[in-house]
Amino acid sequence: MKEFSKNAKNYEEYNIIQKKVAKKVVSLIDRDCKTILDLGCGSGGIYKCIDWRLDNFVGIDSSKNMCSLHPKGENVEIINMDYEKDIVYDELLKKRKFDIVCSSSSLQWCNKLSQTVKNFSKLSDKCAVSIFCDKTFKTIYDISGLDRFLPDFKEVVEIFSNHYDIEFQREFYKLYFEDNLSKFRYIKKSGVSGGVKRLSYKETKKLIENYPLDYLEFEVLYIKGSK
Ligand SMILES: C[S@@+](CC[C@H](N)C(=O)[O-])C[C@H]1O[C@@H](n2cnc3c(N)ncnc32)[C@H](O)[C@@H]1O
Repeated sequence: MKEFSKNAKNYEEYNIIQKKVAKKVVSLIDRDCKTILDLGCGSGGIYKCIDWRLDNFVGIDSSKNMCSLHPKGENVEIINMDYEKDIVYDELLKKRKFDIVCSSSSLQWCNKLSQTVKNFSKLSDKCAVSIFCDKTFKTIYDISGLDRFLPDFKEVVEIFSNHYDIEFQREFYKLYFEDNLSKFRYIKKSGVSGGVKRLSYKETKKLIENYPLDYLEFEVLYIKGSK
């Protein structure tokens, strides 16, 4: 999570994929949803794509810097908290209901996704989310031997199916770069480095020299749920 705070300003310039993904999540939200809870709202990827009037938009993000970059407004409430904490659901939002809970490019870092989904499913009968899955940076993982830390899409689908009737879609994206150094700079600055940061300087250098593709790979799972 610190990664996002440190790169909060850079994130605005390096979040090409996340912007595209947030737009698609918003396309899964019915326009009659007027009260929205956004988990891991960041600098407003979701909010900025909503072009209809809302009664209330609540965003939660554990990074103070990201919260400060989120658009403000009369109907906008930004809460600087960790959405994995039960207290968010048992106390803070206990008596509230939302037309939909959404989240984009964030839930893949949950330590216990099943608990978080269980918790937020109490607040709304609908959800629309995107989650990066384990084919993201596939070639980097294949050649470096690093452990994958992103979830397998099947596990995520199963978790959501326990609480919602779901429709899901997997999308694979390729982001092209002129050289390998720019790819690794992108990974660092976009806040999606995950396991790659565990490599030593020497290992990273070797990986940069040997990376065989002129693009980075991403796997994103979109889920639309209703009860
Ligand atoms: C890749 S950014 C996506 C931001 C935004 N949803 C978008 O689509 O542009 C992920 C965000 O999730 C937040 N985040 C990750 N884990 C979180 C947690 N457990 N509680 C609250 N925020 C979290 C990070 O601080 C970061 O701002």
